[in-house]
Amino acid sequence: MREITVHLGERSYAIQIVHHDLDRLTQFLHTEYRYSTWFVVTNESIFSLYANELKQLTADKRYHFILIPDGESHKTLDTVDKVYTELIQRNADRNAVIVGLGGGVIGDLAGFVAATYMRGIPLIQVPTTLLAMVDSSVGGKVGVNHTLGKNLIGAFYQPRCVIADTRFLETLPSRELLAGLSEIIKYGLIADVELFEWASEHWEKFLACEPETLEKAVTRSCEIKAVVVERDEMEGSLRMILNFGHTWAHAFESLSDYLLFSHGEAVMMGMMGGTKLSHLRGYLDDSDHGLIQSTLNAIAARMVTPEMKLFFDKITWDEFDHQTRIDKKASGGRVKWVLLNQIGQASVESVPPEMAEEAFNFLKYTIASFE
Ligand code: NAD
Ligand code: GLY
Repeated sequence: MREITVHLGERSYAIQIVHHDLDRLTQFLHTEYRYSTWFVVTNESIFSLYANELKQLTADKRYHFILIPDGESHKTLDTVDKVYTELIQRNADRNAVIVGLGGGVIGDLAGFVAATYMRGIPLIQVPTTLLAMVDSSVGGKVGVNHTLGKNLIGAFYQPRCVIADTRFLETLPSRELLAGLSEIIKYGLIADVELFEWASEHWEKFLACEPETLEKAVTRSCEIKAVVVERDEMEGSLRMILNFGHTWAHAFESLSDYLLFSHGEAVMMGMMGGTKLSHLRGYLDDSDHGLIQSTLNAIAARMVTPEMKLFFDKITWDEFDHQTRIDKKASGGRVKWVLLNQIGQASVESVPPEMAEEAFNFLKYTIASFE
C-alpha cells in the first residue's frame, strides 16, 4: 500500500493506493464513521461488474446503493436531484456518508451531492477508472455540467479519504486506460519531465494493465496533484496549470453534446492544440515541440474515431472560440490558456486570438491526417 497525504490543515486526507483490498474501505468506514449509514453512489455497469466483491456490502443494512445512469451526459443537476430524492426517501441524515464508487462522472456528481446535501456530509472517493485515480478523485473539485457548458456548476469540497484500488483497472476497457493516460502525460508536461519521458516510452504497457506501471503512474500523478492543490486549493492561480489542454477539451466535449469524446480523449487532443499554441507563443523550441507532438499524435491516433474526425472536419473557429469564452478560466471575455514554457513547466496567459486560431487550424489539419 502506498499513502500520500494531501495537507490542507484540518481538511487534510490520505490517498491510499492499494491492490485487491476493498476491505480498506469497510475498515475506514467502520472505524471513522461507525454510527453512520453509508450511501454508495455508483452505476449499473460497475455494480454488476463487481457484484461479487460488493456482496458483503449489499448484504449489510448499513450500506445503501444508489445507482445512476452511466455516462457523461448524465452528469447533470437532474441526476443530482434524483440522488437527493433517494437520500431523503431513505432518511439520510447528517450522519450519512457518501461513497463515490466509480469513474470521474460518479466522483464529481457524488461529490457535489455530498457538498450540498444538508449543507454538506462526509465524502469518500473510491475511484475505479485510471483517470479518476490520477486526477478527479483528488483535490476536491466536484460538480456537474450545464447544457451550455462543461463543469459549470460545482464546488470545492475535499473528500475525507481516497481509496484507489488498482484492481479495478483490470476490467477497464483500453479506451478508458488511454483516457487516464492523457492526464498522466499532462502531469509530466506541466510538472515532471521524467514522468513525461517515462510515460511516452511505456504508454503501451498501460494497455497491458501492468500493475507496477499503473501503480507508479497513479502514485506520481497523485503526488504532483497533491502539491498543487496544497499550494492553491481554490484555483486562484497555480492550480490552473492542471487544466493544460482542458479549455480545448471542454469545448470539444460540450460542442459534441458529451457524446463523442470521453474526457481523457478530448484532453489528449486539447493538449495537441495547447502544445502548438505554446510553440507559436515562442515557448517550446522545434525539437521539444516535435517530441511532444509525436507522443501525443501516436496516442491520439489510437483514440480517434470516424465520428471525431467528422467533428473536427466540421467545427469552425467561431464555434470553438465562442465556447472557449465560457470556460471558467476566462475573465472579461478573454480566454486564459495554459501554455508549456518547457517540458515540465507551465504558465497561464491570454494570447492574440489569431494565434489561438492558428493552433486550432493546426489541430484540425493534424486530426484530418490520421489514417
Ligand atoms: P467515466 O466516469 O464516465 O468512466 C468511464 C467509463 O468506465 C464509464 O462507462 C464507467 O461506467 C466505466 N467504468 C468505471 N470503472 C470501471 C471499471 N473498473 N471497469 C470497467 N468499466 C468501468 O469517465 P472518467 O474518465 O473516469 O471521468 C471523466 C469525468 O471526470 C469527466 O466528467 C471529467 O469532467 C471529470 N474530471 C474531473 C476532475 C476533477 O478534478 N474533479 C478531473 C478530471 C476529470
Ligand atoms: N483537474 C483539474 C483540477 O483538479 O484542478
